[in-house]
Amino acid sequence: MLLDKGYEVHGIVRRSASLNRQRIDHLPQSAPGAGGGLHLHYGDLADAVGLVNLVRDVQPDEIYNLGAQSHVAVSFDIPDYTGQVTGLGTVKLLEAIHASGVDSRFYQASSSEMFGSTPPPQHEETPFHPRSPYACAKLYAYYTTVNYRESYGMFTCNGILFNHESPRRGENFVTRKITRAVARIHLGLQHELVLGNVAARRDWGYAPEYVEAMWRMLQHDEPADYVVATGDTASVRDFCEVSFAAVGLDWQEYVKTDPRYERPAEVPDLIGDAAKAKKLLDWEPTVRWRELARIMVEADIELAGREARGLAP
Ligand code: GDD
Repeated sequence: MLLDKGYEVHGIVRRSASLNRQRIDHLPQSAPGAGGGLHLHYGDLADAVGLVNLVRDVQPDEIYNLGAQSHVAVSFDIPDYTGQVTGLGTVKLLEAIHASGVDSRFYQASSSEMFGSTPPPQHEETPFHPRSPYACAKLYAYYTTVNYRESYGMFTCNGILFNHESPRRGENFVTRKITRAVARIHLGLQHELVLGNVAARRDWGYAPEYVEAMWRMLQHDEPADYVVATGDTASVRDFCEVSFAAVGLDWQEYVKTDPRYERPAEVPDLIGDAAKAKKLLDWEPTVRWRELARIMVEADIELAGREARGLAP
């Protein structure tokens, strides 16, 4: 979206033995030193010095911190790492801006997970009750973002985004796990789908619309915190039903549950009230969860078709 708007975009890539950049491979990279386009740099939210150097060298007008160990279930297995990256990584980045004196506007990807067990609907004034190491780390990052605004007058915003999905969603988040399974079952590549708690309810929106809201926060005159959501909710069971129905199948014939995919503490029900974003940012979502499920199933049928023909994804 930023490239489409004509931005010069700098991204941080974590070093790993195997490349995992498939989701940005289609974006051409600009040569080092060239203006415009996309530039990638090695960096890590666990590495404060690298972040300071990068902010000082690039001098970005806007910084979007979307980096995190972002899988809620996995955060129970690696709570220390999740706290380091998802929580302390944010203070490292904020301090890199503060210490280098660069005039950057800062967006923090806060999460509806922070509301945890607080009953819906949730808005900016709703009390938080985090239910996972991930949510606790996000809450730390949220308040740090508020604190740098209040302490140093920095332009920092929290986007409290409810679940946002698209065909590019990671395969072990529930929507994508479902739509990928539907496509593969439809084409005979898979025979069942094993899930955890299918009673959990989420407010699922369409990611391309949500990034527009992030951008609008940083264009506004005043920094603030905003809920971004559709205001609609559905259970994992509902999402299964609509996704399987998109290819004419009955979900109950294919879905099994296994406690191995359940979490030690669950977030039962999320419904966001995005009235503030509508009023101040003139932002409103148009895609609701049923249409989202169909968009994702369609994209996964395309991918599964390639898999069935032995082609690269
Ligand atoms: N991943 C997963 N896999 N979730 C399952 C499964 C399964 O097999 N079966 C049931 N679920 C339930 C989870 O227990 C949860 O209640 C719900 O499906 C959604 O799980 P996820 O898709 O993993 O997303 P999440 O809500 O935990 O977190 C996502 O949204 C947050 C915003 O609210 C992530 O993107 C977070 O990073 C983000 O902050």
